[in-house]
Amino acid sequence: MAWFEPFRNSVVLLTGASSGIGRATALAFARAGARVAIAARRKSLLDELASEAGPDTLVVPTDVTRRAEVAACFAAVREHFGRVDVVVNNAGVLIPARVEDISERDLDAMLRVNLLGAMFVMQEALAVMRPQRDGVVVNVASLAGRRGYSPLGGYSATKFALIGLTEALREELTGSGVHVSLVLPGVVETPMAEALTHDQEFLDFWPEELNMPPSWVVWAIFAAARLRLVEVSVPPGAATIEKLAALAPGAADTLVVWAQRAAHWVARRMHGGTP
Ligand SMILES: NC(=O)c1ccc[n+]([C@@H]2O[C@H](COP(=O)([O-])OP(=O)(O)OC[C@H]3O[C@@H](n4cnc5c(N)ncnc54)[C@H](OP(=O)(O)O)[C@@H]3O)[C@@H](O)[C@H]2O)c1
Repeated sequence: MAWFEPFRNSVVLLTGASSGIGRATALAFARAGARVAIAARRKSLLDELASEAGPDTLVVPTDVTRRAEVAACFAAVREHFGRVDVVVNNAGVLIPARVEDISERDLDAMLRVNLLGAMFVMQEALAVMRPQRDGVVVNVASLAGRRGYSPLGGYSATKFALIGLTEALREELTGSGVHVSLVLPGVVETPMAEALTHDQEFLDFWPEELNMPPSWVVWAIFAAARLRLVEVSVPPGAATIEKLAALAPGAADTLVVWAQRAAHWVARRMHGGTP
């Protein structure tokens, strides 16, 4: 498809490629003719994905919370492919809890992957891309990184932090030829979201019937990388609504409650139940 053509022979490195959004995006880039490197901790899942994506796929088992492993990952990709054109900085974890209950350990675990890991990946990407004077880093944050929602307070804090880091980096990259994009998904049907179906607090917040397919985020990542967009929310425009809502935070709190009620009403209609 013409839309994907510009990625033919591009070198694309994806973190969090063993599952969900990362896996779907890796397959889409491979189908677009890109040379793909896939990183995550679970090697068996990466091997399985590589057999689907094609023989040119490079498997690089990596824990993004370990700076040395991230550096080794980029070194392996450069050695194998000679350059890095696109990095999809996607590895992430979510542990739901109300703010009054969240443990230091769980918040630390999320910060280490969602913020520190993402920062290590950005720093290694820039070390390769700045001398190339070309490249795109797509940071997968979340709509929950533009507004806090319960029971996602700790997770929101890590994604707010990633967005702050990305916005500052954008300034630093002016004139460098290197671009950093933000992709901000709402709730997407992946193992991360499936795990939340055991959490009643989360189900009260968001009905699983309204989860989006990963393909929506794949398109957003492609659009961000191809058009060098600053920020893409999924569904489109959702982050703009959150930014407008921030102008009147008290009113926005009330709107969130109404929106949740509306979402549950729609979900019940989808089941053919009484609204
Ligand atoms: N699903 C949603 O509703 C949603 C909404 C907004 C944003 N997001 C964001 O989208 C991204 C992908 O999430 P997903 O829904 O696809 O979740 P997922 O299916 O649970 O996948 C998460 C990926 O992150 C990897 N990962 C976790 N810890 C890692 C570590 N220490 N080192 C390397 N890789 C690690 C996992 O691989 P291993 O376990 O094999 O290491 C896995 O491949 C995340 O950043 C998430 O926050 C998701």
